[in-house]
Amino acid sequence: MKVLQINGAKPLEGTIRISGSKNASVALIPAAILADSEVTICNVPEITDTDALEEILMYLGATVKRASESIVIDPTSLVNKEIPEEMSNKLRASYYFMAVLLAKYKHVEMYFPGGCSIGARPIDQTLKGFRALGATVEEKENYYVIDAKELNGATIELDMPSVGATINAMLVAVKAKGETIIKNAAREPEIINVASFLNGMGAKITGAGESEIKIEGVEKLEGCYTEVIPDRIETGTYIIAGALMGKKLKIDNIIPEHVESLISKMQEMGVDMEVGVDSVTVSKTENLKPVEIVTKGYPGFATDLQQPVTVLLTQCKGNSTLEETIYENRFKNVPYLNNMGASIEIENRKIHINGKTELTGCEVEATDLRAGACLVLAGLLASGTTTISNIGPVLRGYENIVEKLTDVGASIEIKEV
Ligand code: EPU
Repeated sequence: MKVLQINGAKPLEGTIRISGSKNASVALIPAAILADSEVTICNVPEITDTDALEEILMYLGATVKRASESIVIDPTSLVNKEIPEEMSNKLRASYYFMAVLLAKYKHVEMYFPGGCSIGARPIDQTLKGFRALGATVEEKENYYVIDAKELNGATIELDMPSVGATINAMLVAVKAKGETIIKNAAREPEIINVASFLNGMGAKITGAGESEIKIEGVEKLEGCYTEVIPDRIETGTYIIAGALMGKKLKIDNIIPEHVESLISKMQEMGVDMEVGVDSVTVSKTENLKPVEIVTKGYPGFATDLQQPVTVLLTQCKGNSTLEETIYENRFKNVPYLNNMGASIEIENRKIHINGKTELTGCEVEATDLRAGACLVLAGLLASGTTTISNIGPVLRGYENIVEKLTDVGASIEIKEV
């Protein structure tokens, strides 16, 4: 079994360069097959989630060339066939293939997608979008047969601004006849990245990044070149690392606006930080003030940063609260933080953090991706050794995490035990 072992309490100094966004890449890679010719995507992180999607592409017959951070995808020899369950359940984003195969072939058969176990995560809003555009959906337990004689533009009003459902609706609507309007659309930067990519292929999408997106369907999409935006969750994770252990730790190659809600909460705590055009430099600060955080869709406080930020809240003097409004089961990191010395109580979808507490390393488990990130941060701060088991989820989302942290002074390694 592989574990991440961290000898904590080491100052972090130097620069961490942020990779391309996981959640944008995992939509851009499936979207590539909508083109009728070769597509190049740059700044794709080398993480197991992107590996899993490349595997699916190759299974479907696409030609995929990976050269460090770029992927060249040629979809011309693609075949529409069922993706084996063991491939599609490796990650949530496999369901973007439902949309692109439906758009391209008007028929798709697929299993329910995988992803971190942080809540029920139904796909009803995605299916609502497909149905509105003219598809019929037959659900057989966790298997879906989706078919359309033709796909026609329509108004899709989402019940909640779901990132996945918004992207899936866009992916189908670009090839549907006529105009589609997505109301109550999610506004995350990854959606803008996907829309720009599709527009580069010849799609006609306006309003991405706002609550209402308009799409005029087109018949053909051609290959193009695109670049993945910097990962705002990786950015936030390392900014928090800087606030815990930084000695002028610079987080570089970022879009500060994408982590505005985190930065403003950290300023409220009193963290010593300097925000540049494409970087943030942050240092460990004493006497942090407690704050209240509520997770929201973008531009609100990102749910993906709530587990990482919990470590910082243990260092604020007094009572902080954190309410999780997106997922019903995203506090699995909390018992482990308490084992390390934190004082956190869970009350339904809210946690109360009583700080400041010293943390001491112990054996913990990465139950999901961001819980793992939280425990890495806790390990960097804690005295002694923290051993994190089940590291697969962490490697799904953080490119070269060991190398990046080692380069700035952390003592962290992957060990076989
Ligand atoms: N929801 C439904 N029905 C749906 C879709 C969503 O009830 O059909 C609910 C979900 O259960 C959840 C909420 O709506 O409570 C938001 O879900 P959303 O669809 O926005 O999430 P997602 O598209 O499945 C993406 C990211 C997540 C991130 C969320 C929110 C990807 C591959 N995943 O998930 O990332 O938490 O948006 O920003 O893009 C992560 O990176 O650790 C991660 C979980």
